[in-house]
Parts: sequence; structure tokens; C-alpha cells
Amino acid sequence: MLSVSMLATFPELVEHALDYGVTGRARERGLWRWRGLGLHEFASDARKSIDARPAAGGPGMVLMPGPLDRALAAATVWHGEVPTVVFLSPDGAPLTQARVRDLAQCSHVCLVAGRYEGIDQRWIDANVDAVVSLGDYVLSGGELAAAVVVDACVRLLPGALGDKESTAFESFADSQGGRLDWPQYALTCCDMALPPGLTGGDHAVIQRWRLKQALARTWRRRPDLLARANLSLVERALIDEIALESKA
Ligand SMILES: C[S@@+](CC[C@H](N)C(=O)[O-])C[C@H]1O[C@@H](n2cnc3c(N)ncnc32)[C@H](O)[C@@H]1O
Repeated sequence: MLSVSMLATFPELVEHALDYGVTGRARERGLWRWRGLGLHEFASDARKSIDARPAAGGPGMVLMPGPLDRALAAATVWHGEVPTVVFLSPDGAPLTQARVRDLAQCSHVCLVAGRYEGIDQRWIDANVDAVVSLGDYVLSGGELAAAVVVDACVRLLPGALGDKESTAFESFADSQGGRLDWPQYALTCCDMALPPGLTGGDHAVIQRWRLKQALARTWRRRPDLLARANLSLVERALIDEIALESKA
């Protein structure tokens, strides 16, 4: 079972978000469990202070080490084991499916959500195993970013999805060479026609059509993924075809 704890100013912000769909069902089935630790509960003064002015001046406030230390200790006691500590921050490494796969294998992940100007760097240096960003933009807090990480991890847990093949045939999957997914079409639909590549019932034709669509989409939208991919001869030939067709 995966245990996920979160140290945050507003843990209640995400608790219900994780009750729905795949994450909710997986929690009911005991595949993972969750503990949100609100930093105010771990403050040491009557005013429940968790932040302080930045050293040497500047705007905003910085989360202090003390409440974070005590909340991390409580998370460790909850699970009975020191967690892998991940700080969500715009200055971290971009979150990737490879990172998600690694985190989903952990026994206890502690997600640390910042607020205000962020977290005291001394605490980060002493406690954080990885700093992870959701992208090149700034959120007001790390709670929603933490929920994204949880959702991405939980759906990879064995038994979380109805069909275990779902995670093998999707964007960024290893088995798909890390490229984007092919476009999906509902079998039952209104009177809009399906692309001809999907209608003949010939498995080989459908496979080739899907592969070409996936490569075309990746080529247009995420050429960086193709540059890193170990492409087969068939895939290279399809990409040449796609490039030629795009010039026509
Ligand atoms: C207002 S932000 C702090 C921004 C920080 N001073 C900076 O300029 O990099 C407050 C908190 O939101 C979270 N956050 C904001 N943007 C994020 C992103 N792109 N990915 C992950 N977490 C983010 C982090 O936990 C961060 O500590």
C-alpha cells in the first residue's frame, strides 16, 4: 500500500478532490492511504504562526522550519518510516511520468506544499529528497500541485484502473516509446463519421493508423519527445511520410 502524507497550510483544500473517481475507489480498496498535516497545528505559539518575514527584507512571508519539522515528524510516526520527501515548487525539475512511476513505487511519499514566498531554504536542504515543478508558471500554493502528483501516482498502482492495459497504451508510456497517445474515438456516437483507418476491422491496418496518428501528433506538438525516442525503422518511415504530407 502506498502512503501519502502532505505538509501544507491548507490540507483540506485537496482532501475531497482525492475522494472521486480512480483515486477515491483506489483508496476504498486499500491501495493507498492519505494523511494531510496542517502546519498551523504544529505551530509553537498561541497565534499558530507558521511563517516569518524574509531575512534581509523583501515582499511576502516565508514558511518557517519549526512547524515543518514537527509536521514531518508526525508524518513519519503515522507511517512508521521516514518518507521520500518531495517539495512542490516552480524552481523544481518538471514532473514527468518517469518521476511519477518512481514515486508510485515508494512506500511513503511526503508531499510538501509551499505558500507565500515559499519555504526556508535551510529546511529544504536538510529534508527534501526531490524538488518537483508542475510547469513554468506560479501557483499561489503547492496543495493543488500535490493533488496532481497523488492522482498521477495512484492511477499507476496495480489494481487502481479497471483495465491494466490503460497505462501501457497512453501518452509517455515506456511501451509506446514515450510518445503521445493516438486520438481516441467513441464507438457509439452521433452521426459523425469515424476516420477510415479505424473502420475496416483489419487489426494490422488499425495498428498502423494509430501508430502514425500518435507519431504525427507527437511530431507536431512535442518534437522534443521524438528527439529522445529510440525509434524503430517503421516509425522512422512513418515520420518521413508525415513530414512529406505536411509539406503537400
Ligand atoms: C507563490 S509560490 C512561491 C513562488 C516562489 N517564490 C518562486 O518565485 O519560485 C507558493 C508555493 O506554491 C507552490 N507552487 C507554485 N508554483 C508551482 C509550480 N509551478 N509547481 C509546483 N508548485 C508550485 C510551491 O509550493 C510554492 O512554494
